[in-house]
Parts: sequence; C-alpha cells; structure tokens
Amino acid sequence: MRKGKVDALLGIVFGDEGKGKIVDVFTPEYDIVARFAGGPNAGHTIMFEGKKFVLRSIPSGIFDEGKLNIIGNGCVIAPDLFMQEAKELEEAGYDLRSRLHISKRAHLILPTHRVLDRAYEAAKGKNKVGTTGKGIGPTYSEKASRTGLRVGDILENFEEKYEALKARHERTLRDLNFSDYDITEEERLWMQGIDYMRQFSLTDTEIELGKALKEGKSVLAEGAQGTMLDIDHGTYPYVSSSNTVSGGVCTGLGVAPNAIGDVFGIFKAYSTRVGSGPFPVELLDETGDRIRQIGHEYGAVTGRNRRCGWLDLVALRYAIMINGVTQLIMMKSDVLDSFAEIKVCTKYTKNGASTEEMPYDTDGWQAVYETLPGWQTDLTKMTNEKQFPQELKDYIAYIERATETPITIISVGPDRAQTIVR
Ligand code: GDP
Ligand code: IMO
Ligand code: MG
Repeated sequence: MRKGKVDALLGIVFGDEGKGKIVDVFTPEYDIVARFAGGPNAGHTIMFEGKKFVLRSIPSGIFDEGKLNIIGNGCVIAPDLFMQEAKELEEAGYDLRSRLHISKRAHLILPTHRVLDRAYEAAKGKNKVGTTGKGIGPTYSEKASRTGLRVGDILENFEEKYEALKARHERTLRDLNFSDYDITEEERLWMQGIDYMRQFSLTDTEIELGKALKEGKSVLAEGAQGTMLDIDHGTYPYVSSSNTVSGGVCTGLGVAPNAIGDVFGIFKAYSTRVGSGPFPVELLDETGDRIRQIGHEYGAVTGRNRRCGWLDLVALRYAIMINGVTQLIMMKSDVLDSFAEIKVCTKYTKNGASTEEMPYDTDGWQAVYETLPGWQTDLTKMTNEKQFPQELKDYIAYIERATETPITIISVGPDRAQTIVR
C-alpha cells in the first residue's frame, strides 16, 4: 500500500480466483475499496469467524466498519439484486448507508436486459457464451450505443425514461421472436430496488477518488471476472463485456494511469473456467472431477460445475504482461494437498506447431505439460511459509521463475485466517 495510490487486485485467469477473500484480508491497510467493472455476474466469497458471505456488486471491503466502499462508473448494477444483497448485509449488522457510495455514471441493468441476455444466448444456438444471465452483455452494449440508463437517471423523471427504454427492448424481443418471458414480479422488485437505492449516496465517485488521492489516501481497486474474460484480451467471443484488466481500473474509476501503484494478480494453484469457450488445460477425466470435488468448484452465482484443469503458464504470463502484475497471489494451494503429481502447462501445440505465447484463437490448441512432484501434506493449518513442504516451495519457485514475478501470498483455505504472507 502506498499513500495517494490505487493498488489493483485482479483475477488473472477465468475468474473465481478468490478475489473476495483477499480484498477482505487487505482492506485494513486501505482507506477506500472500489469496484471498477462488472456487476452481479461476479460472486465474491468471504469467510471469517464461521460466517460466509457472497458479494455480487458490493465491494469486499464492506466488513471493515471504518472504510469507504465505492461502486465505480465502470460497473453495471441491478437495483433488485443490489437491494437483496445490501439487505442481507444490513440484517447481519453491517451499516452500509454511510460507507457505500455509488457512481451516478454506473449503468442500470433493467429486467428486460436480462430477458435480452437470454434471447441473445438462445439465438446463438450451439455457440452459446454460457453467460450468467444477469443482463451484463445487453447493458454494456447499450452503454456503448449511448442509449443506456445510468444511476444518476433515477434522480429525475425516471419512470418516463424507464418506460421508453423498456418499450424499445420489447420491440427488439418481438423482432427476435422471443416471447417466453414475464417480468411482472421482477419489475415490481426492481422498482422497489430503485427506491431503495435512492437512500444511498449516489455521487460523482471519480471526483471523490481524485480528492482522496490528493489527500494521500490509499485505494484498493477490486477486480471482477478475470483477464481471460476481458472483452479485449480474453478468449473472445467467450468473454464478459467489460475491461477486467488493469487498464479498466483507470476508465472504470476515473483515475489516471500514474495513480496506479501495485498490481496484485490472483490465480489458483490450478485452473478453472465456468461457461463455454476454449480451455486448453481442461481435464475431462477423473483428475478434473477430483479437483472439482476437493475445491468445491461450483459457481457462486449460478451453481454450475466449473471446468477444471492444471495451471496454465501461457495464460499466466500473458495476463502478467497485459496487467503489469507486480506481485502474484496463489490461492487454493490446499486443494492439491493429496495429489502425488502436479502438472503445469508450459506451452500449447496444434498441428505440429507450438507456442509459449497466447494465440489469437485458443480454440483447438492442446496443452503441453511438465510434471512436478506433489507435496501430499495438509497445508490448511499452516501459518508460516517455514512450515511448507519442500515440494510446495519448489512449485512456488518454479512458477516464479517461469513468470519472472514474485508470489507474495499463499492461500491455504477459504477462511480469512488461512492466508500466508511471505
Ligand atoms: P472470486 O470470484 O475471485 O472472489 O472467487 P469465488 O468466491 O467465486 O471463488 C473462490 C472460492 O474458493 C470460494 O468458495 C472461496 O471461499 C474459496 N477459497 C478462497 N481461497 C481458498 C483457499 O485458499 N482454499 C480453499 N480450499 N478455498 C478457497
Ligand atoms: P467473478 O468476479 C467466473 C463468465 C460466465 C460466461 C462469461 C460471460 O466471481 O470472478 P456474463 O454474464 O458476464 O456475460 O458471462 O463470463 N463469468 C464469470 N466466470 N467468475 C466470474 O466473476 C464471472 N463473471 C462472468 O460464466 O462464461
Ligand atoms: Mg466468483
């Protein structure tokens, strides 16, 4: 943490790396925690003192009572889901209203955006993206088309603007011949959510952040999704619809590139992906099933099975370059505790050609592995890296060499306390 800087904490693979857990661990060091991209497609899990929370739109810094949390302009927000999420936290005793500010420039996800999400997926036939169904793509498309509604719009003549946009969506749905929807109940809750949101500070968060940085305050930008789901640098078209990379911190919060300090890149000791799209390290065998079972690799938002595989150094090196990662954080190391051998993908091969660099189209490439010995030791109760078995030390050193980046934190379980700083 440096005063007057924004550190970024980013998932650098396909999401679900454990961002929520680490943001929660880091929050005491920072003054402000801010989300800069995505919306309720995210599911960030935080566990401490026997409690578990899954956050979607609210930053994971919310459990530290003294800290300001910001939902930035780069985010999209669904009022009904926001209300549900915020009420759960309020019921658990966390005061949000004085500590959570929402950018007036963030875009609103309408119920009809979610219907459009389903309709566009249905129209794709077998090439579905496998979205979370939360209306993310249609809302960001609308932002780029300059026809969207923003949080600031709820402060004046909102009903009128809402009805006009909804009518346009309904025309599009008719054109798509998509009639399999009824949003009556959803819309009622959504409107309640709009009223509920009006009780929060809806502000110019970029100005607040600018002033805070000038005063020497420190900011932690919490990423959503991961680099391989980035709209520009991920496995397009099987991606989400926002810039999830460090560049997105600048546009999604309104902070300048020279305000960025450290960039923490989070990855798991193995790989997962949820939804469709190329995944060269995918294990469609018993080993993949075993990783899924031990790692509880089922989606926090949709409950879908996450696809599992070994660590992918091609993806990791690419993400480190794109994001300017200064420190790596390795999550879920304990999930590999019982494996006698651990593999690591060092390059991809296709039709006799091979590459160590991320190809334009990852489809059809196969992973080439190196095999390392597993540690076969329970890591979950360890508190210090001195207790680490030699094989784990070797695994860490191997990744550090291959990526030319230090791994400064090792996570050995889901709880806040199971975090080892080197
Ligand atoms: P995020 O979207 O990046 O915040 O990650 P998710 O919350 O979607 O998924 C991470 C899952 O792994 C959650 O269920 C966490 O509770 C869990 N988790 C995080 N770190 C560890 C770890 O080191 N070990 C184990 N076993 N589970 C972890
Ligand atoms: P967190 O922040 C994992 C995936 C979806 C789908 C693709 C597009 O918890 O890491 P979308 O609904 O965004 O249009 O879906 O992106 N996806 C995620 N996968 N973690 C996430 O978020 C994700 N958010 C979106 O499964 O493949
Ligand atoms: Mg998640």
